[in-house]
Amino acid sequence: MKIGIHDLDVATSHYVLDLDTLAEHHDIDPNKFRIGLGQDAFSMPAPDEDIVTMAAEAAQTLLERHDVSKIRQVLFATESSIDQSKAAGVYLHELLGLPANVRSVELKQACYSGTAALQMAVNAVARNPEEQVLVITSDVARYALDSGGEPTQGAGSVAMLISAAPNLVEIEPESGLHTTDVNDFWRPNDSTTPFVDGQLSLDAYLGATTSAWDDLLARRELAIDDVDRFLHHQPFTKMARKQLAALAEHTGTELTDDLIEESMGYNRALGNTYTSSLYFALTAQLHNNPDLAGKRLGFFSYGSGAVAEFFTGIVQDTYQDHIYPQNVAKQLDNRVELTYDEYRKLHSDFTATSETFTTDKTTNAPFRLSGVTEHQRRYEAQ
Ligand code: HMG
Repeated sequence: MKIGIHDLDVATSHYVLDLDTLAEHHDIDPNKFRIGLGQDAFSMPAPDEDIVTMAAEAAQTLLERHDVSKIRQVLFATESSIDQSKAAGVYLHELLGLPANVRSVELKQACYSGTAALQMAVNAVARNPEEQVLVITSDVARYALDSGGEPTQGAGSVAMLISAAPNLVEIEPESGLHTTDVNDFWRPNDSTTPFVDGQLSLDAYLGATTSAWDDLLARRELAIDDVDRFLHHQPFTKMARKQLAALAEHTGTELTDDLIEESMGYNRALGNTYTSSLYFALTAQLHNNPDLAGKRLGFFSYGSGAVAEFFTGIVQDTYQDHIYPQNVAKQLDNRVELTYDEYRKLHSDFTATSETFTTDKTTNAPFRLSGVTEHQRRYEAQ
């Protein structure tokens, strides 16, 4: 029985900062960002947006095409959680009218947990093929102003429906795994921005993904040429090139950039979307190549701290009839460009507070955060 990604859709935030603007004000050659990091811009939420509003929009667009009564679980992966207790996915039940007889939990392990959610969903469907699982990745990557990570901020959400007989990608059994305790990137409870050891994070990413590759090969017969396209967690798109070069060296094979090129367009424009980044890479890959039916995709998932997984999936013959590139184009094109001063103010004004506040209406998205009263976050549909 085939199990995998039946459908997916995405959302991002109201604002965008062009990296040329950041380069100009920081007196940096814009090519450092465009070529050196492989990034053009990053999404940034308005004060009335967060991981829940983006997730609700992505999920609503997806679920309009499906019968929600088959969904038995909502697995919400994020590392920019809005509450230490209540799962972000629970808010979606009210906003989207999801049935009450659905399990809802939140998962965390930096940028990796979307993959954990996907694999848990596949296992649940294997146990009961009648069930479907809604997997959501949603994150806001917010680094300190004037820090090395600043140009790699971003925001976005991907909603995926996991089912038997999937329309998009069958997830193949067996994964390669790697976990090691490393302090390359972490965000303690009292900080709204992460602490990062940039060079260590690059080394940890490359070491962990190569190790995950080796672990899969120890479990299953797979040659490097059996993989037609590689997809990566892309904190910045150049990282995928670095990983492919490291894999080529590790395996003693020549691997050309056309194996990854089609997966990068959305992440170049969105920035780092943490848990969503790998799944925006998948979305771009499916949208940018009409001849993928039957081809094998190799997924490199990485979350600092650090956990990595390498797994594979087969693109289904039906995929071209179930992709919606126009929805992604609308999300990207509708963003409002920030000036540098507006960006700095928006960044500086952000606080993670449960004290009472109300937000002005900024976003035109279907859901917004109207504020906090009685220490409770209030969302509304519009
Ligand atoms: P940096 O010091 O700003 O940049 O830090 P750099 O000096 O290393 O330059 C970057 C690249 O630009 C270099 O290319 C330069 O040569 C090039 P490379 O040698 O790497 O190929 N460059 C230029 N290219 C063209 N024209 C020019 C020019 N000038 C320079 N004029 C760093 C970069 C990634 C460290 C920083 O952005 C950072 O700290 N980012 C945050 C951490 C990060 O993204 N790490 C990635 C791996 S960890 C991960 O993926 C997990 C994560 O998503 C979190 C999670 O899991 O939750 C981050």
